[in-house]
Amino acid sequence: MASLTAHPSEALSGTLQVPGDKSISHRALMLGTLAVGRTSISGLLEGEDVLNTAAAMRALGAEITRDVDGLWQVWGRGVGGLREPDDVLDFGNSGTGARLAMGLVAGQAINAVFTGDASLRRRPMARIMRPLEQMGVRFVAREGGRLPLTVSGPQALMPVTYRLPVASAQVKSAILLAGIAAPGKTTVVEPEPTRDHSERILRHFGAAVEVGDGEDGRHVILTGEAELTAAPVNIPADPSSAAFPLVAALLLPGSEITLPAVGMNPLRTGLFRTLREMGAELEEENARREAGEPVADLRVRAGRLQAVTVPAERAPSMIDEYPILAVAAACAEGTTRLEGLAELRVKESDRLAAMARGLQACGVEVEEGRDSLAIHGCGGRPPGGATIEADLDHRIAMSFLVMGLCAERAVSVDDAGPINTSFPGFTEAMGGLGAGLRGDGTT
Ligand code: S3P
Repeated sequence: MASLTAHPSEALSGTLQVPGDKSISHRALMLGTLAVGRTSISGLLEGEDVLNTAAAMRALGAEITRDVDGLWQVWGRGVGGLREPDDVLDFGNSGTGARLAMGLVAGQAINAVFTGDASLRRRPMARIMRPLEQMGVRFVAREGGRLPLTVSGPQALMPVTYRLPVASAQVKSAILLAGIAAPGKTTVVEPEPTRDHSERILRHFGAAVEVGDGEDGRHVILTGEAELTAAPVNIPADPSSAAFPLVAALLLPGSEITLPAVGMNPLRTGLFRTLREMGAELEEENARREAGEPVADLRVRAGRLQAVTVPAERAPSMIDEYPILAVAAACAEGTTRLEGLAELRVKESDRLAAMARGLQACGVEVEEGRDSLAIHGCGGRPPGGATIEADLDHRIAMSFLVMGLCAERAVSVDDAGPINTSFPGFTEAMGGLGAGLRGDGTT
């Protein structure tokens, strides 16, 4: 385990190219695998989560290479053309990799065994199994629908109409990926809209996806037995990773930084909206589109933040950003209330409990509810001076390192290794802006 310590820092400045979007990177590799022809991907996130997905796609028969200039090439097998992997598929820490790949395998008449690290093996998979079973897929899983599990794709998959019981882009995407191989229309109804990268990239590869609003929510309708054609993908910087330097710059007086080409998909930008409500100065420049996704350069200046109440309905658009928002709230003036957080309990760790425990260890007063968190802001630097257990959770690790930069005393995380899943080079990137991060030098 490599520990890392963040020391109280002064103003940050400069430009930081944040690594590629994790959600879109997984999808680009998977769609490239199902498409006919060669898909070129630029800006692919080269973090462990995505590298595990690349390894799984190779095991399913895709040919995937990386050019010296960092461009990735995927030679796909065509829908229905995947081969049975001759070993277990290990998705490491990644719920997105494992869950979306279950949808992919569902459409092939093959068996595949899925596993992951200790964090992924405790996360719920029944939410994926239920709809795919309705489509004809068979699973054998551990008690409680946990990994390792075996997926058996049927000879003939059936289309479904499925209403999501939890707001989850992963469940929606697994059903859509399976639906590509099913005859007729596969429909997902989501009561709360979740990130729509799958819908966008499916269209980019030539699939017919219609989206409409019904009384019961948003209907996403995919026409099955689709022919997918390889298409180039330019992946934007990940807004969820940009959130860490962005919040650090907001909190350290005198800071001014630029983050180029950040994904601005409106179903991902709940954090930016919330920070603006708190008084943050965030400017978007050069707004443009890349592979069907909106992108802009973000310019951030430090400023004082005021507490807000974040409503439950905003949760899907900022689900991965609550840990870093909680750090911003700890430095703001007043009490910030976060609601509708039940899903945080089944992420890479129980993030609600981890944030409450970690903030308290840093001298911040909090109240943890079943699905809510109230944070009493310090109106400046919190005391800090704690060591936080990351519990295999990259976002908990990075959030508390930002806390250490903005606190009165240093904050350490016991194991910074998981940061490599989503933000390789985090220490060097933050150091380049002037942040004081020191450790064993492994991230
Ligand atoms: C993701 C969806 C979200 C998010 C995860 C990535 C995706 O998970 O937390 O980091 O790429 O579809 P849920 O579907 O569980 O909400």
